[in-house]
Amino acid sequence: MKVAVSIIKSKYNEKETVDIINQTSADYLHLDIMDGEFVKNKTYDFEDILLITKDNHKPLDVHLMVKDVESYLNDYITLNPDIISFHIEAVRNPKKYIDLLHDHDIKCGLAINPDTDIKKVIPYLDKIDTVLIMSVYPGEGGQKFIKDTEEKIIELKKLQTNFEIEVDGGVNIDSIEYASLADVVVSGSYICKSDDYESNIQKLREYKKQT
Ligand code: DX5
Ligand code: ZN
Repeated sequence: MKVAVSIIKSKYNEKETVDIINQTSADYLHLDIMDGEFVKNKTYDFEDILLITKDNHKPLDVHLMVKDVESYLNDYITLNPDIISFHIEAVRNPKKYIDLLHDHDIKCGLAINPDTDIKKVIPYLDKIDTVLIMSVYPGEGGQKFIKDTEEKIIELKKLQTNFEIEVDGGVNIDSIEYASLADVVVSGSYICKSDDYESNIQKLREYKKQT
């Protein structure tokens, strides 16, 4: 299982946090971009992100929690991330944004909130690269993992073809058992508020559900 690390809750400032993550085996740097409209909090401006990621070498996993998806995509495409996910709840027609990302050779993820049925993404499963299943309500780090998420992962796994399943929010050593069927997990505070990023990344990556 791959591990994406979110810098949203850290003991250090953002730039220091990114630099520490770059010394670990993290598979992705997960950037939580919040606009203060789609979710109540606002995180980094694009200019901040340019500074924070100046020395980053990890593949970028950008998570847009924004209303104006188009304008944010136009900015974040220029960072040449590995993947950009946006919320299905924020758009009427995801198809044009999926195509826009693919035209730039960037993978596209569709994010779904805990109270959004996976039926909403079924029409796009053959077009996208990742379904980002939120295991917390988006808007801040450090929340508790919603255990019902496991059923959603199992349901989506039955439909899985070429897309990956990524789980995001509240993932730590206690909740990983409910996320272990995912291809990628995002973890923020469990990693970035710890004293040993690498050891906690390994614990998540190596977790095997006891059968
Ligand atoms: C929530 C974000 C998640 C979350 C990860 O809106 O998308 O990426 O902050 O941080 P933890 O692991 O602390 O929940
Ligand atoms: Zn996220």
